[in-house]
Amino acid sequence: MERIVIAGGTPLQGTVKIHGAKNAALPIIAACLLTDEPCTLRSMPTLTDIDVMRHILQSFGAECEWVEDSLNIHAERLHSHTIPEALMREMRSSVIIMGPLLARHGKVSASYPGGCAIGSRPIDLHIKGLEALGAKVSEEGRGYITAEAKQLVGADIHLDYPSVGATENIMMAATLAQGETLIRNAAKEPEIIDVQDILNVMGADIAGAGTGQIRIRGVEKLRGAEYTIIPDRIAAGTILLGAVITQGQVTVKPVIPEHLEPLLAKIREMGAKVTIAGNSVTVVCDYRPKAVDALRTLPHPGFPTDLQAPMLAALCVAQGTSVLTETVFESRFKHVDELRRMGAMVKVEGRSAIIRGVERLTGAVVAATDLRAGAALVLAGLAAEGITIVEQVHHIDRGYVDLDSTFRALGGRVERLGW
Ligand code: UD1
Repeated sequence: MERIVIAGGTPLQGTVKIHGAKNAALPIIAACLLTDEPCTLRSMPTLTDIDVMRHILQSFGAECEWVEDSLNIHAERLHSHTIPEALMREMRSSVIIMGPLLARHGKVSASYPGGCAIGSRPIDLHIKGLEALGAKVSEEGRGYITAEAKQLVGADIHLDYPSVGATENIMMAATLAQGETLIRNAAKEPEIIDVQDILNVMGADIAGAGTGQIRIRGVEKLRGAEYTIIPDRIAAGTILLGAVITQGQVTVKPVIPEHLEPLLAKIREMGAKVTIAGNSVTVVCDYRPKAVDALRTLPHPGFPTDLQAPMLAALCVAQGTSVLTETVFESRFKHVDELRRMGAMVKVEGRSAIIRGVERLTGAVVAATDLRAGAALVLAGLAAEGITIVEQVHHIDRGYVDLDSTFRALGGRVERLGW
């Protein structure tokens, strides 16, 4: 049981190298199932979620090997079509294996994340998309779902909601389908462009990622590729919020600054200075940040839900009252109870949190309830008076490479202790 222990109150100062994007890396690892040739993925973040994905591919017979920050994957022969239940339960996004495996192998079985019924949330859009491509989807005993298709066939698919995972799943499956697929109301996240780009390097014919309409012309075969994953905009954003909450000065690079714009717009509104130079972004916060009015999480290019918890932590010490509304996920305010233990004045009303900024948070023993909630608590600890102990840090390791070392390198008094 590891904990992160923070003695707060030191302004963060310095530069941080940003690792590859978890949310691009996960579907891109899945995409390697679409070819029997070797693939090399560079700038892979060494995260526990990435390891879960690697184990899933290995369970099908793919060879996966780390060489420094590259992951080499060779899915020459596949001997299984079942995503192991334990791994599926560990990470909901394992569902994005379904499209590529179905397209390559003709069959895929997976347990429902959380054991829900066909057609209901949270994977209904994935299933509907694969069915539209001609897959026969059936439910087997013990909450298993199986999709089968000798040959997928291109289709015109309208997503009821621009789901990131469903867009990627359908896009990957459609690369080997017969004919053309059009995804309407597709998700526009930058990670989807990254998936399009590697697939095109592999020989796919895709256009439109990053817009609401993606067209995929099916090809017979995909080949191997060498590809570098984009920098992680959520990790970069979390670290920049560290400069805001501690009134410090932090530079992140490499980043793609336009990916950070939805956050940077709010950081500017909070009174901090943002400087963009090539592939780096610097945030300087000389004064106590200001509250923001009516901030809503939305699909890209709106404010990302994955930065909602870190932003909420920063607003806890802002001057004035902020209202933050979560529109993407139903119950994503579990960090609020923990932040309250640190003296935060936050009230949740339905999907909105009303945050009355306090001058100082105080250290406490708190638990990371999920990945981004955990990062929010570390940020709060960096700004708090006294000692904060964050428990359940395995959640944080799912999405941040050595977050404690990163903040220590910026002058934060942060230690990871195991006992
Ligand atoms: C991805 C990201 C996650 C981010 C989320 C929203 C990865 C690996 N994860 O998750 O970090 O928080 O996008 O930006 O990229 N939904 C349905 N039915 C479906 C699919 C989704 O109702 O079939 C709902 C979900 O319950 C949720 C909303 O749609 O309320 C958004 O989900 P989605 O965009 O699919 O997120 P993920 O791809 O799971």
